[in-house]
Amino acid sequence: MFAATELSITILFLAATVSYSSAEINLSFQSVTAQQFRTRRFACEVTGENFVAWETPSREASHGQPAIESKNITVGQSSGRVSVERTGNNSYYTLVIVDVTVSDGGKYTCRGSNESKSFTLKVDFLIHGVKTPQRLTYGMQDGTIELGVSAHPPPQYQWRKDGQLMTFPEDGKSIDLYSGSIKITRVGIGDQGNYTCRVVWMAGKPRETEDTVDIEVLVVGSHSIIINSVDFKSLQ
Ligand SMILES: *[C@@H]1O[C@H](CO)[C@@H](O)[C@H](O)[C@H]1NC(C)=O
Ligand SMILES: *[C@@H]1O[C@H](CO)[C@@H](O)[C@H](O)[C@H]1NC(C)=O
Ligand SMILES: *[C@@H]1O[C@H](CO)[C@@H](O)[C@H](O)[C@H]1NC(C)=O
Ligand SMILES: *[C@@H]1O[C@H](CO)[C@@H](O)[C@H](O)[C@H]1NC(C)=O
Ligand SMILES: *[C@@H]1O[C@H](CO)[C@@H](O)[C@H](O)[C@H]1NC(C)=O
Repeated sequence: MFAATELSITILFLAATVSYSSAEINLSFQSVTAQQFRTRRFACEVTGENFVAWETPSREASHGQPAIESKNITVGQSSGRVSVERTGNNSYYTLVIVDVTVSDGGKYTCRGSNESKSFTLKVDFLIHGVKTPQRLTYGMQDGTIELGVSAHPPPQYQWRKDGQLMTFPEDGKSIDLYSGSIKITRVGIGDQGNYTCRVVWMAGKPRETEDTVDIEVLVVGSHSIIINSVDFKSLQ
């Protein structure tokens, strides 16, 4: 047992020594969590081979969001808010993302002429500027209770209306799995109330993130519709 451990330590040591002397891409992280609207830099060390490009994530269209195409970005190039700089002792190729957004989340690959290494960028949610109260129009109209809170990978949304846990889809209500907003087909008087949404993001492991937002929803309608409905009741 002891001898085996000692042997494997020796092998590890040899492996580390050998690979250090040959061509290598050194990325000292496999996963990084970023906050939205920050600028983040990710250094990739390339030794003994040529740097080719940083490859950005690709994503299939989902939850009503368009597909994202992967791009190869090399030194001095940029694509929107993403660029690559050569830094340090000229052996660091640094990926720079200005104003990180949820759509930046995914797998990035530092590609050399011989080897490549990847890391996953996770983007934490931010509860920011959620409106309250929100007004929905009564009648034959669809309405949305706007939340607009997203993350990569997506968080979980737990909605309550007047303290009661809601499930989706139910009663013509569905949830938008990208933003957490509730879509209502045919807004009714019963949709008025105090809503809370608890947003839980497990991807922040070992520390999960969570936050809760309160939204008061008022149902408004034109006078004629309300008078008509009162008239209708009094006729019965
Ligand atoms: C190229 O990479 C492989 C592993 O991916 C490694 O075994 C080999 O030594 C590398 N070649 C050079 C010239 O360093
Ligand atoms: C890889 O990078 C890390 C952090 O920059 C450093 O501590 C480590 O020594 C590097 N490894 C090699 C083999 O260069
Ligand atoms: C980026 O470059 C690599 C290696 O040349 C290639 O396999 C990959 O398809 C390229 N990706 C894009 C999006 O052009
Ligand atoms: C920069 O490269 C030179 C020559 O390869 C080396 O002697 C020196 O230690 C390097 N400096 C750093 C900070 O890595
Ligand atoms: C929301 O809660 C407050 C405080 O309890 C209450 O005054 C208000 O009428 C409620 N709003 C709705 C739309 O039910």
